[in-house]
Amino acid sequence: MVRVWIEKISEEPELYMIRIDDTRIRYFEATWEIPEGITYNAYLMKTGDAVVLFDATKKEYADEFMEALKKLVDLREITHIIVHHTEPDHSGALPRILEENGHRAMIIGTTFAKKLLEGFYGITENFYSIKDGEEMKIGESTFRFITVPWLHWPDTMITYIVEEGIMVSCDAWGGYSIPEAIDDSNEEVVEKYLPYVTKYIVTVIGHYHKYIVENIEKIKRLGILEDVRMILPGHGLIWRKNPRRIFEHYERVGAGIPKKGKILVIYDSMYGFVGRRIEVALDELKKLGYNPIVYTFTDKNAPPVSDILGEVPDSEALIIGASTYEADIHPRIRYLLYELVDKANYEKPVLILGSFGWGGMAGRKIETLITRSKFDHIDTLESKGWPSKEDEKRIREGVRRLVAHGF
Ligand code: FEO
Repeated sequence: MVRVWIEKISEEPELYMIRIDDTRIRYFEATWEIPEGITYNAYLMKTGDAVVLFDATKKEYADEFMEALKKLVDLREITHIIVHHTEPDHSGALPRILEENGHRAMIIGTTFAKKLLEGFYGITENFYSIKDGEEMKIGESTFRFITVPWLHWPDTMITYIVEEGIMVSCDAWGGYSIPEAIDDSNEEVVEKYLPYVTKYIVTVIGHYHKYIVENIEKIKRLGILEDVRMILPGHGLIWRKNPRRIFEHYERVGAGIPKKGKILVIYDSMYGFVGRRIEVALDELKKLGYNPIVYTFTDKNAPPVSDILGEVPDSEALIIGASTYEADIHPRIRYLLYELVDKANYEKPVLILGSFGWGGMAGRKIETLITRSKFDHIDTLESKGWPSKEDEKRIREGVRRLVAHGF
């Protein structure tokens, strides 16, 4: 049974949230493991003689979405559909809605969105392409459209409802998981939710994370940040108690601001050789008063890559341990690194620890990846089989150099 929330969030103008809780999903974008699930939020506003729908939902939930919409409005009465972003988790139900609407509504979005809607669904009619910063009077409200490219695609924009200080933002300021409330009024709910926001930012927007900071700067320059009273994202919690908080969280993650003492340790160990090296490193870190967060790939354990990526932005430094496997990096770490330097490419120091049987290769290959990325390579300490006393001494020295690097 799919949970659908229909919540009135403002009396004047009449504004509703329709939230679908996706508990069936396992891998967002067929990649990112999210046992915590995700919500798809859309909004409906009645202003004067206009009825405005902000985004839709995933095709899989079109039936539930339309049923919810019909409790609020006759679909033929929808006058405008604002498409902030065309990824199908927000647009998949659009063809059905338009059909029941009789194609009466004006569709509003960026020129980029227009091209994508045509490519995805063959939608070409009645589309209005906005200009960045353009204002439009709809019903009794003034809508300002602001492009926020790469949050999450080049098509993306947000709507600022001027009189109310409401920002409808789709992917931007969203997060994973299915919060037990619709808004940020309960601190416990917010505390539980924020780590899922970080994981969402890194896995979904991480490749473009510099645009998070750029787009927030843009909103600041427009002078509306101080006036925002409510943020209505396409995923997760609404922000109305403290909208500034989600901007600040996005800014911190976008800039990779570290949490004091957090060192991220990731390694594979097939038979314990890399594991022993990590034990030594962890012992040294603890002696130095650091707080390592450890993710281990073994013959009994494979943590989700999406969780690991979510740990990177607020880490001070990373230790990566890998076995050499067929003259390459162990497959689990190889895949992880591929995503790490793509999605979570931050200027943080990295120490590489490696073990091999007859020929070392993983360490050098990781080093090549790291030195080509924004990460700062501290050292590669790779040796044969079980670590010798001398190896252990070098690992301890390496850890001391890592934390002395300055964050
Ligand atoms: Fe929530 Fe980029 O879609």
